[in-house]
Order: sequence, then structure tokens, then C-alpha cells
Amino acid sequence: MRDAFSLDPSITHLNHGSFGALPRVVAEAQQRVRDRAEANPMRFFRVDSPGLKAAARETAAGFLGVGADEVALVRNVTVATSTVLASLHEQGRLGPGDVVVLNEQGYESVRRTVAHWCGRTGASYHVVSFPVAADAAGVVGSHRHAFERIAGRRGTVRLVAVDHITSPTGTVLPVAEVCAAARDAGALSLVDAAHVPGHVDASPPATGADFWTGTWHKWGFAPRGTSALWVTEAEREGMLPLTTSWNHGQPFPLPFDTHGTDDYSGWLSLEAAVGFWREAGGLGLGERARVLLDEGAAVVDESVRRTGRPRGRVDVPATPSPCLRLVPLPDGVADTEQGANAVYEALSARAVEAQVVAFGGRGWVRLSGAPYNEPGDYERLAAVLPDVLDAG
Ligand SMILES: Cc1ncc(COP(=O)(O)O)c(C=O)c1O
Repeated sequence: MRDAFSLDPSITHLNHGSFGALPRVVAEAQQRVRDRAEANPMRFFRVDSPGLKAAARETAAGFLGVGADEVALVRNVTVATSTVLASLHEQGRLGPGDVVVLNEQGYESVRRTVAHWCGRTGASYHVVSFPVAADAAGVVGSHRHAFERIAGRRGTVRLVAVDHITSPTGTVLPVAEVCAAARDAGALSLVDAAHVPGHVDASPPATGADFWTGTWHKWGFAPRGTSALWVTEAEREGMLPLTTSWNHGQPFPLPFDTHGTDDYSGWLSLEAAVGFWREAGGLGLGERARVLLDEGAAVVDESVRRTGRPRGRVDVPATPSPCLRLVPLPDGVADTEQGANAVYEALSARAVEAQVVAFGGRGWVRLSGAPYNEPGDYERLAAVLPDVLDAG
């Protein structure tokens, strides 16, 4: 599998989760699209592109088990989230007294987007906390509790954004239950499924969300900038892209098909990406990763233990996602953003690329289990980590 990717073989790559990695066959498919565009730009953009984009949308919709008229292609989850917030603002549905609910494990760019639109509209946001080891009942209970407190004091819960798989902890959250709780509270819900397509079963309607966004440039092996925004029927009419372009005025999702002259070759390679994913094992890749990470995380954990550095009581996620796993670092190491950056840099200097996370008052290494990872990758991290910790 390693040869299927262009990754530098002198580096140990343990963070597929953040930016993905493109298989060679998908890169070649994308190059073919670009070659076709360059051979006759006029014909490609004027005549061929609309049909090719519609076909890419069909591929995305087929993958998600929804109709092609339910899903828009967008570049990333950040764009999709901004789109939802901007549309609610445009429709006058976000204003003083309205509260957007996020959670502490949510993605920072999503929080910043929400903060921006709250600032513009006079709405406010509330961040729900729950322990790293919270189970489904704990996560849903903290949300319900927050909804009740907000309704009693601050205003109206308007929108709840919840991650299906969290970025800092790689935890699967009970999105369907949180969306149901949001509905009970009279609020809309947005599922951030950035890590979902290709990783675990991806069905936007099954979450019960009003808005769902996911990406193929992580676990779906597509070129970066290949993501989708699914919108429930009642919300489609008011959902406009951030950029007004040629398809303005047409029904959802057509306005999203173009944001002006750009390189759309990533979207047009989605079918090749899905083909690679299927051939590589589809959702079975998650099962392989789970086994790999069980062993890999134990090896890395043991290397931390061997340093003899104190590591107080550590609660790990109750529901880790198949392809992501946390290993706790010793107390006081990488427990701030600055400290985590320093550990990341020290690992990178030793040719190991891994995500170091400061979360919940402690530092962690977040391991990925990608198709190209082998047990030796985690052994390599385990070999250099004690040095890095001693140097820190
Ligand atoms: C949970 C989550 N949401 C959103 C994003 C943002 O994705 P993008 O940069 O593709 O918009 C990420 C990226 O890692 C993520 O993990």
C-alpha cells in the first residue's frame, strides 16, 4: 500500500487524519482531468464542465445514499459551515437572543466561524463540555443540560453544531441523539462529519441533522477541496453559496456547482477516489486500522511508560473512531498549544509526522491508522518519543 501513495519514504507518516494523502491513481486521474482542460479550455469550461460536475455530485450522493439534488459539492467543511451560518443570517434567523451551541471537542475553525457570525448578528454561542471519556449518555446529557440552562436564562437555542468524529480526540460522538435533543429543544442541527466519509458509515439523513458536511480529502482519498454539504429538504431553498455566480437563482444545489473560473479537477476525480477506497477495502479499512492501532498505540504507550515520567490518572475516549487513537503523554508535557507544537517539531525533526494535541489539561499524540501504515511506523514513533520527551 505504501507504494500506492507518493509519501516520502524517509518519513514516518502517522497523521493521515489532518490533511489526508493522495493515492497515485487518484493523482493521475486528476492530472487527466487537468490535461483535458488544458487541451481545450474553451470547450472544457463552456461545454464539458457542467455535466462532469453533475456526475461528480451523483458520485457523492451515491456514496452518501442520498439523491443528487440533496447534496452540494463544496471545497471543505469550513466553507460548508460558513455557508450554513451565512444563510441563516441572510434569512434573518440568527440574531440577538439566539444561541449557537458547540462542544469543547469541536473544530477550532468551526468555532471561529460561529463566533464571527454571532458577532455580525448579535447572537451568542455556548460551548458544551464533557469529559474525554464521556460515553454517549454523558455527551447527550451535557447537551440537554446546556439546552435547558440556555432556555431558562440566555435565550433560544437556534443551532447545534456537533462533530461525528472529533478532531482533538478522534472520538465518535452520538450525533443522532444530539440532533434529536436539538430538535426537542426547537433548534436546528449541523453535523460536522469532516472525518466520516470513508472512515465510518456516512448517512446524513440517519443523523437527523438539518445540515451535514463531510469531506473526501481525509479518509475518502480524494484531492483536497472535495467535500459536500447535504441539506434537509425544508432548508434547501434558502441555502446559498458564499459566492454568487452563474448558477445563481437556480434551485439547490446547482448554484454550488460553480464559484467562477477555478480548478474543479478535485471534484472531477471523486469517482477515482471512491474507486480506490472500494478496492482498498472500503469500510473494512477501519477494521484493519482498529487492529493496527490497538497494537501500535500499545507500543507507543509502553515507550512513554518506560520513560518513568509520571502520568497521573488518564481517561481515554470511550468510543474511539476506527482510524484515530490517542496516546497520553506524561503529565505537564504538551499540555498547552505551545508545548504541543514543541513536541510536534521535535518529532518532525526526527522524521516522524504525528499530531500532538493539547486537550483536557494534558498532552496526547493522536495516531492515525491509514492503509499505508504498518506496525513498524508506530515502533519508529515509540523509538524516538522517549528522546523527545527527555529533551523537553
Ligand atoms: C472535525 C473537523 N471539522 C472540520 C475540519 C476542517 O476541515 P477543512 O479544513 O477541510 O475545512 C477538520 C479538519 O481536520 C476536522 O477534523
